[in-house]
Amino acid sequence: MRIFLIGFMGCGKSSIGEELAKSLNYSFLDLDHYIEKNEDARIVDIFNEKGEDEFRKIEHTYLKNIVLFNNTVIATGGGTPCYFNNMEIIKHNGVSIYLKYNADTLSLRLFKNKNQRPLLKEFTHINDLKTYINELLKKREHFYMQSDIILEEEKISVNTIVEALSSYLV
Ligand code: S3P
Repeated sequence: MRIFLIGFMGCGKSSIGEELAKSLNYSFLDLDHYIEKNEDARIVDIFNEKGEDEFRKIEHTYLKNIVLFNNTVIATGGGTPCYFNNMEIIKHNGVSIYLKYNADTLSLRLFKNKNQRPLLKEFTHINDLKTYINELLKKREHFYMQSDIILEEEKISVNTIVEALSSYLV
C-alpha cells in the first residue's frame, strides 16, 4: 500500500506526511528529497543548471522508481501530478489525497520562505505571488482533483486523513 499526498507548494505535504506515516506505522518518503539525495543536487540547482523541462524528466523517472516501495506515505512535489502521465502512475500505485488550499492561504504560507522554491523566488510582492498562484492552481487543479480523496483546508489533519483512508486500508 502507498499513500500519495498531492497539492500545491506550501500545503504541508511533507510535514503532515511525516506525521501520517508515524501514525500508520508506514515509512515516509519526500519525492523532492529523494531526488536531491540521488542526484546529489538541490532542486533549486537542478532548475538553475538544467532548466524546468529537464527537472520534470528527472522527477518522472524517480516517481516511477518510488512506486515500488511498500507501506509508504509519499509527499509528491507540487508539480508532480501535472506532467507526463504522472497522475495515472500515482493512481495506479496507491491512494492519492489532495490537500486543497486556496490561493490566499497558500500565498501567505509561501511568501515567507519563497526563496527555497525556484518557481517563486522572484516574487517581491505578495499580491503578485497570489496572482501567480491563482493562475497556476487553475491549470493544476484539473490534475489534483483526480485524487481519490480531496480534503479542504479546514478539514486537513492527520486524524481526518486517517478517517478518510479507513475504507482503503482494510
Ligand atoms: C514544484 C514544487 C516543489 C518542487 C519544485 C517544483 C512545483 O515541491 O518539486 O520546486 O512545480 O510546484 P513542493 O511542493 O514540495 O514545494
